[in-house]
Amino acid sequence: MKLVLIGFGNVGQGFVEILRDKGAELQARYDFAPQIVGVATRSRGTLLHPDGLDPAALLEAIAAGHLSRYPDAPGLQRDLDSLALIRASGADVLLEAGPTNLQTAQPALEYCYAALDAGMHLVLANKGPVAVALADLRARAAEVGKDVLFEATVMAGTPSLRLAQQALAGCTISEARGILNGTTNYILTQMENGLSYGDALLQAQALGYAETDPTADVDGWDAAGKALILASALFERSFALEDLVVEGIRKLTPDDIDSARAVGECWKLIARVTPEGGFVRPQRIATHHPLAAVSGATNAITFTTDLLGEVTLVGPGAGRKETGFALLADLLDLKRKQTNV
Ligand code: HSE
Repeated sequence: MKLVLIGFGNVGQGFVEILRDKGAELQARYDFAPQIVGVATRSRGTLLHPDGLDPAALLEAIAAGHLSRYPDAPGLQRDLDSLALIRASGADVLLEAGPTNLQTAQPALEYCYAALDAGMHLVLANKGPVAVALADLRARAAEVGKDVLFEATVMAGTPSLRLAQQALAGCTISEARGILNGTTNYILTQMENGLSYGDALLQAQALGYAETDPTADVDGWDAAGKALILASALFERSFALEDLVVEGIRKLTPDDIDSARAVGECWKLIARVTPEGGFVRPQRIATHHPLAAVSGATNAITFTTDLLGEVTLVGPGAGRKETGFALLADLLDLKRKQTNV
């Protein structure tokens, strides 16, 4: 399985670290030996080699600041633009892990269409194309017999979408509700522990939880993007961001946190989506409520179903390896399907 990776930030690096560290185990246990043939970044260079790039050397080059630090090799091409690289790569799968734009989904959406035209499956960590154009991407993929997978976009590698779409198949899901942003949950937890908002945000960025532009997290847009993805994936509803009521945590003060605590409550940024619409907003919940125990970058989602009642999943919602793992899980899913054909 040949891969082309767009975006080599926290998520892309987390994924490549997994290949570096667990490559032998993945091959032995799953007969899975993917090859990264291309990597493209916005400002830190691009690399293409039809015989594959070395994961450890890729990580060393990016740690040194630029892919130009990757060692020379016969057949290695440098500095193609991302679209040219996708088209020239001959890859089987596009991994899109570039920055999210929830309004236009660009430039990632253009890369997705180019990859489908070139006969690739799509595995997305980038929320933009899924939130904005899932139905169209799925239709285009179906025309060329390819899959669109995007487990990484909601709750990192915690299998929220796989649970809803595969394990709960046969149930009708009427609502998804929970804590869907790791950065804000981490900030709220640290504020409970006495840290300032600003210091907690800096920590969340250093830990690799925050989006490239962390205002997307603190103002609720990242959780709103996940609500759009859930609406599209679970209910086949294409809401726009403007259809949701969205409020972040920026206005919450230490006083708000103290006054909630004084009456046995805490603040959580709650996202909810149904076939009719949804919201993201801070809510006070009782400290004995199960969601109150979901702390740090951990997230939780409750699906309300007709046949099982409520099903709740708790797990990491952000993080480098935690999200990198989601890409691996999608690729293993693709491999299983290929094996079954
Ligand atoms: N910035 C996101 C979060 C990353 O904090 O949840 C995972 O989507």
